[in-house]
Amino acid sequence: MICQVYPLSFQDSDGDGRGDLPGLLSRLDYLCELGIDAIWLAPVYCSPMRDFGYDVADFTGIEPCFGSLGDFDRLVQALHERGMRLVLDFVPNHTADTHPWFVASRSSRNHPQRDWYVWADAGPDGGPPNRWTSRFGGSAWEYDAGTGQYYYHAFLKEQPDLNWHNPEVRQAMAEVLRFWQARGVDGFRIDAAAVLAEDVKLREDPPKPDADGQTPEPERVERVYTDYRPEVLDWLAELRRCAEADGPSLLLGEVDGSGDRIVDFYGDAGRPILHLPLNYRLIDTDWQGPLLRETVEHYLTLLDALGPEPGTAGARQGGPGKPKGWPCWAVGSHDKPRVARTLGPERARLAALLLFTLPGTALFFAGDELGLEGCPVPSEQSRDPFERQLPGFGLNRDPQRAPMPWSDAPQAGFTTGEPWLPLEPGHEQRHVARQQRDPASMWSLYRRLIALRKAEAALGVGSCFGFFTADALLGFQRAWAGRRLQVVVNLAGTPQVHRPDDGRPARLLLSTRPDPEAPGSSEGIRLEGYEGVVLVLD
Ligand code: NOJ
Repeated sequence: MICQVYPLSFQDSDGDGRGDLPGLLSRLDYLCELGIDAIWLAPVYCSPMRDFGYDVADFTGIEPCFGSLGDFDRLVQALHERGMRLVLDFVPNHTADTHPWFVASRSSRNHPQRDWYVWADAGPDGGPPNRWTSRFGGSAWEYDAGTGQYYYHAFLKEQPDLNWHNPEVRQAMAEVLRFWQARGVDGFRIDAAAVLAEDVKLREDPPKPDADGQTPEPERVERVYTDYRPEVLDWLAELRRCAEADGPSLLLGEVDGSGDRIVDFYGDAGRPILHLPLNYRLIDTDWQGPLLRETVEHYLTLLDALGPEPGTAGARQGGPGKPKGWPCWAVGSHDKPRVARTLGPERARLAALLLFTLPGTALFFAGDELGLEGCPVPSEQSRDPFERQLPGFGLNRDPQRAPMPWSDAPQAGFTTGEPWLPLEPGHEQRHVARQQRDPASMWSLYRRLIALRKAEAALGVGSCFGFFTADALLGFQRAWAGRRLQVVVNLAGTPQVHRPDDGRPARLLLSTRPDPEAPGSSEGIRLEGYEGVVLVLD
């Protein structure tokens, strides 16, 4: 399982109110005790921080507010000593406008690096070359008066897009990857992986038929020509070859995980691409039993249809020669509203149960294990450029980026200074120290679930089958080497009784409640409102 750490909000060590690498180092035992296998570390590269590190000014340096390369090396070593891995955010689509590559590129139309970015002449009306929009709102083109052309930016105008059609760019980014591998990084989360290419003919993205004034402007078009271009898959496959040239490396990728085309990002035996295209369906779907079941089953079926792919953990169906795309379930990130906010605190416990009992890799955002719900930040005080450019659409990402509450020390032990974002209300009840003492806490549930996941091979590599919904119950089975487990969640607030079809006796292995009833009886298994259980079927 992988835990995403947003370094700005994890632990501050020097009182500047922003989390840093020495702070993260001082909290590694916390992550280790929880039982996680790897951390996905959001960017710590040199950056003007317009998009909090996703605007990179030097791909091989560390932003001083986070620490130094020496701190980074110490982090890698300390993680490895504890048996954990480091998956580093890798931002290949764009740079900061202060990056030396862009400074060179914009210096003259004749500069050898001009073509490292996406430049175009004005359109026929003398304005931007076309109507492409930035994902953060407004035109995706910015005029450069010095050279009389426009440059393309999928995100902020301070984040010009690299031109991935240029082999020199691909080569330069591959070298970045190798630089961090040489420092011991075990894998990469590829930022904006699906948007690396734009149509070279600059054709217009068509409007979405169902978009209206309530739709945020960037979502009013089908991104046919600015997203998910076929050449992206070739480039990602090239990155995969590069990443694995000297040994195993893990590639997670931020792709559009909602539709069926997620499978394309796995590639196939001849051209493997990503190990784990990120999938947020568990939190993006409607939590009605049949819909949730359909979402989960559909995704697993899509991945089952994939051909064998070397290098994936392929034992999901248990049979030799049947490797499949390895699933990935994520319930949070620095871009997504907190799962406990979206689903509510009770259903967030069920989401945790599903996260660790469904087949595949489980990924959560540090703080989800505390049931954090996010800190409301009014639009006018927002730090997030997304909200500042598109206020009022509910896109603000500040809430989920609120600092981790560790204890009842001032500022919840996060910093001795003024935190860069406010702590979330109620942190006094939710901080780590308090939850670690409470067997009923979300933290204790995460810990029990992770321990169970590690102890039960059926949950790790077992087959998954027998999905059912009945009233408000949803369930499925996992099996491996003769051991069979049943997972059942009650999606309603009222008690429900589960009657196994085959009447097999069942023994309770884990409940999301700290004080579960003994479940077995001839009438079936009673689940309290919003209770989830893992049973052993004898
Ligand atoms: C995706 C990142 O997760 C998000 O935080 C960022 O704003 C955009 N990519 C642009 O890099």
